[in-house]
Amino acid sequence: MIKRTPPLIIGNWKATPNLKDEATKFIKQLEKKITSSKVKLPKKCYYLAVPEIFIPILVPLAKHGYIGSETIPGYKEGQETGATTARQLASGGAMFSIIAHSEVRRRGETEEERAKKVEQSLLAGLTSVVCFGEKARDKEGKYLEELESDVKGTLGNIKRELFSNLIVAYEPVWAIGAAVPATAGECFEAVIAIRRALASLAGIDHAKKVHVLYGGTVTRDSAAAFLEEGGVNGLLLGRASQEVTSFFETIVSSYRGK
Ligand code: PGA
Repeated sequence: MIKRTPPLIIGNWKATPNLKDEATKFIKQLEKKITSSKVKLPKKCYYLAVPEIFIPILVPLAKHGYIGSETIPGYKEGQETGATTARQLASGGAMFSIIAHSEVRRRGETEEERAKKVEQSLLAGLTSVVCFGEKARDKEGKYLEELESDVKGTLGNIKRELFSNLIVAYEPVWAIGAAVPATAGECFEAVIAIRRALASLAGIDHAKKVHVLYGGTVTRDSAAAFLEEGGVNGLLLGRASQEVTSFFETIVSSYRGK
């Protein structure tokens, strides 16, 4: 299990880069920047979710970070052509897995499938980063109720003692790649709703162990504001983690503050 100290900065490479050599070059450059950083960073200062084929290649290079998977297919060991199990990912060196990212949800993932994936991921010992977020907001605040109901539906059957290996990412779909990004204040109210749902599911003590991240669009310039005013313990980055300088600078500004 990963021993977590906030802020947790998690990158998500999505379907990039195309080449193994580009992936290894990125990690080598990132490691070099971290080693010579003027801002003091902890021994492990980043998480990076990568295409699963790169996981065993990158794990030995990522001395200051944790390498993980961007999703898990949710199948158990057996006759399932084309599926990789959570245990196989863990055996290949993955330390964590993102689950229910909005780009996976939009391919038709159901709440039942999400719940199964979370359970398998946790049972395989992977720290599980489960994403929740509304597609749009309404003035009456119904989206907050939907958010809470999704959290309860997806995590309702998870054993309470496994909550300590759970991370939740708030990912407002309307804010991803949008011309006007979400503000730290908008993040804050949704994070409260998520924490309320976690507490009602598992009780305050277990809920407090769950780190909540912000996963809408964040840049190296907005990272510190979300961490200081958004009520979150970390960030889930997309594009900001796909270029080495921007990932490094976002890590540094998250640790240094505004
Ligand atoms: P972005 O992606 O940072 O590139 O907007 C965020 C996400 O997909 O969670």
